[in-house]
Order: sequence, then structure tokens, then C-alpha cells
Amino acid sequence: TILILDFGSQTSHLIARRIREFGIYCELLPCTQKMADLHFKPKGIILSGSPYSVYDKDAPRVDPAVFDSGVPVLGICYGLQEMTNLMGGKVEACDHREYGYAQLQIQTFPDHPFADKLFKGIESPVEVWMSHGDQVTGIADGFNVIGTTNTAPYAGVAHKDKKLFGIQFHPELSHTVCGKAILHNFVLDICQAKASWSMGEFVNKEIARIRQIVGPAGHVIGAVSGGVDSTVAAKLMNEAIGDRFHAVLVDNGVMRLNECENVKKMLADKMGINLKIVNAADLFLDRLKGVTDPEKKRKIIGNTFIEVFEAEAAIIDKECGGEIEYLLQGTLYPDVIESISFKGPSATIKTHHNVGGLLEDMKLKLIEPLRELFKDEVRELGKILGLDDELVWRHPFPGPGIAIRVLGEVTREQVEIARLADHIYIEEIKKGGFYRQISQAYAALLPVKAVGVMGDKRTYEQVIALRAVETTDFMSADVMIGAEWFLLLKRISSRIINEVKGVNRVVYDISSKPPATIEWE
Ligand code: XMP
Repeated sequence: TILILDFGSQTSHLIARRIREFGIYCELLPCTQKMADLHFKPKGIILSGSPYSVYDKDAPRVDPAVFDSGVPVLGICYGLQEMTNLMGGKVEACDHREYGYAQLQIQTFPDHPFADKLFKGIESPVEVWMSHGDQVTGIADGFNVIGTTNTAPYAGVAHKDKKLFGIQFHPELSHTVCGKAILHNFVLDICQAKASWSMGEFVNKEIARIRQIVGPAGHVIGAVSGGVDSTVAAKLMNEAIGDRFHAVLVDNGVMRLNECENVKKMLADKMGINLKIVNAADLFLDRLKGVTDPEKKRKIIGNTFIEVFEAEAAIIDKECGGEIEYLLQGTLYPDVIESISFKGPSATIKTHHNVGGLLEDMKLKLIEPLRELFKDEVRELGKILGLDDELVWRHPFPGPGIAIRVLGEVTREQVEIARLADHIYIEEIKKGGFYRQISQAYAALLPVKAVGVMGDKRTYEQVIALRAVETTDFMSADVMIGAEWFLLLKRISSRIINEVKGVNRVVYDISSKPPATIEWE
């Protein structure tokens, strides 16, 4: 295991991602982690970057024991500065913040036992990506300089006796083309970590772990949505404990066209998952009557979901003799990272609908088989478990569903319009071959009317807004553009206007996130 200590940089999780790609398991923990409290012995430690300056009063501090543990350490950006600061060197603010490419000149130490290992195989000079406001201006005692740039005299350092390294630039960013090689050199050569993290092995280990936790007679319940995460988690449970895993799909009346039937076909009929569908559409739609505020809609749907799910869980629990002990949740690693951050949770932009609230009342223990995985790893796992490509690559769909895509009041009629428009949109995107390139696409129904002409008649009808974004992490997103894409949008627009009653105009949302968000509400 490689330990990554996170000082709050936006790119810390990318370090983890790169190392996993080498087949090496790593854990990302807050920088405040004390070495004495670690539950494993790392083969190496990486210190991430940070938005702070080492001289800030509230700057995050590393446990000095990190440098005496005998384990190789690589400090990246703030990590280098914090190491330098602690060991008696000097860090100062740059004249201007340095952001962008720089030429790294590599210095060699042919007689040194390990100083050359970090940049092994990389030809000097080489382009690296910088992003920093402070930099090292005085090297700490006992270090050699192994890399310089025009502006950074200490762009790379290596300790003379201990395996401590520091670099000012960011190897985790794809802009630093040699970044992979540097991280590879560090974890495989310097730390001597062994590649043992593979998805095939993960499946076997996880199934064994689930069986051990649940025991020979225990039952587990979990909500499924038809999305990748909950389906992969459900399939894994099904492989581990068969019908003792109970999947529940709550029809909240704001799902996509034919979603319940499709989920039933896929999960129950095809994958053999023990699935119960609860039709609660009327209850949800009744409670949404007259509500236009987005946050209120989200709360109503979240709370109603919990109520319906709990009632169903009680029924299932009775049926299987009170043996339900665990609740399955499809938490992914980015959620785990977010919740353990030393900075605390970030500001609430939207209340996300999740099943976390269930735990408080239900006295169930949590089982989270995906909590170590990134989204692309979940997809890989899905493929190993035999999920159809179509499901594995499905775009995310929000818990509150079409309710947050029908702006204004949510009525059955409005949901029908949005649902049909969305169905046509996605069908055409798939036919046009754009589905995989787009990270998320959907149709929203706007609560305004516009004038149009159809045949010889004036129309006065509603507006559909189409959204399509490309993103890697859904935290920021770019709108999909392109000549061919726009031609397809034109065809989609005419299909929607022709086939969806009540719509006479289609617009394309060209805002990026930020400042817009992916969903309209
Ligand atoms: P926003 O609109 O915040 O969306 O840019 C980012 C991503 O999150 C999805 N989303 C949700 N997912 N429950 C979910 O499970 C929710 O309440 C929810 N709200 C937004 C959104 O579809 C996008 O992928």
C-alpha cells in the first residue's frame, strides 16, 4: 500500500488514480493522520499539494514522524515545501504565481545510491506543469538538488541519506507528460511496491469479505436505481449471498420512460437479482403538487423515498424472519475522500438525494463494497461481473429524477412531456454515435410558453431545453459542441417538436459548469 497524505489540493485524488493504474493499492488520508495510528504499514508516502502556504497560521501540518519512519517519501508542491520547512530550509512567496509549463533540467548524481532513481529514464530537459504561489528558496540540510527550472532553483530535491524526495511541479496532471514515469519510478523502484491491485482479484476478495461479514444466514437490503453504481453493487451482493440480498426499486413516478420494466428485465430476469419493485408514483406525485422550489422538491422526494423504503424493508424483514442486518450502499471512493477531508464537507449547492438518512432510523449496519473504487473502476468491475455494455456506460441520473428536470410544478402531464422528449433525445444520441463521448445528456422542460407556427396555425406551447456535457468528475463540465453534433441537435429538435405534444420549441443549453450546474434545479 502507498499512503497519500492529502493537504487539500484539487488534484490529490488524481495521484491515487495514477497509482491504482499501476496495479498498486493506495489509500488517501487527511494530512493530519498520525503515523502511530495507521492501521497498515505503507511502502511509501506521497504528500500532496495544497491551496495553503506553509506560513499560513492555519496551514495543514504533517506528522514529522513521516520523515523518520524509514519509508520513502515524495513531496509534491506543498508537500515539498512542508518537508523543506520542517527540515530547516526556506520557503517564500514567488513574485507572481507560476502556472503553466516549465522546462525541467535534470541534475545527475552517478555515484549516489538512489538520487537518480526518481527521474530514471527521463531525458533532460523535459516539460513539466507548475501551479504554485510559493516555492523553496533555501534547500534543507542534507538534500541534493536533482532538478531546476528557470524560475525554480529547487524544482526537484533528494535527501543524501534517506529516501526523501520533493518536486515543485505536478506529476499527477496529464500535462506533465513524464509525470507517470516519475510516479512509476517512485512507487515501483524506490518504494518497491508490488503490483497486486487488479479488478479480478478485487472481485474475489470482496465476495469473500461480504460472505464473512454477513455470515451464513444474514440478509442484506439495498435500493437500486438502474444506474451503474447500484447495479454493480447489487450484482456483487448477489454473487456473494444470492437471494439473501434483497434489491428494492422504488418507482417514484419521476423515472425515465419504461425504466421500471427495463430494470426488471436487466436485474431480475437477466442477472438473477432478487428484486422487488414498489410502485409509489402516486404518493410522490401527490406530495409534489403545487411545489415549485427546487430544494423543496428534493427534500420531499428524499424524505418520501426513505419512508417508502423503510416500510418495504420492514415487510421484507418480516418475510425472512427478521434476519436483515445490513443496508447496501453504493458509496464510491470520491465520496469517501470528500467526507474525510480535513477541510470538512464543502458548501451545499444542492441537497443531493441519497440513502444516508436511512441509517439513522433503521438500526441497520452499512455495507459498502464499492467504497475503495473510482467510477471507471466500477465500470471495469461491472464488465467483469457481466453487465451489458449499455448499462456499464450509462450516463448518471439524479435521484430526484425528472422532478428536477421539469422546472416549476411537477405534474403527471409535465413529467410525461419531459420523459418522452428525453427518450427521443437519448435514442438519437445513441444512433448518432455520440453517447459515449458525452458524459451526461438529458432534456428539461421549461415552465414557459412560446409562440410558433405549425401548418397554418399559430401555436402557443412549451419549451424543451437540451443539455449535453463532457466532464471527468462532474465537478466541472464543458458543454458539448461541434458541427456534426449541431446537425444532430437540429434533427432531434424536429423529432421532439413533431412527436411530443405540447412542445413547439427546443433550445440547447450552452452554459458550462461552473457557473451553471449540470442539472437545472
Ligand atoms: P449538478 O447539477 O450539481 O450535478 O452539477 C452533478 C451531478 O450530480 C447529479 N445529481 C444528483 N445525483 N442525486 C444524485 O444521485 C441527486 O440529488 C443529484 N442531483 C444532481 C447530476 O445528475 C450530475 O451528474
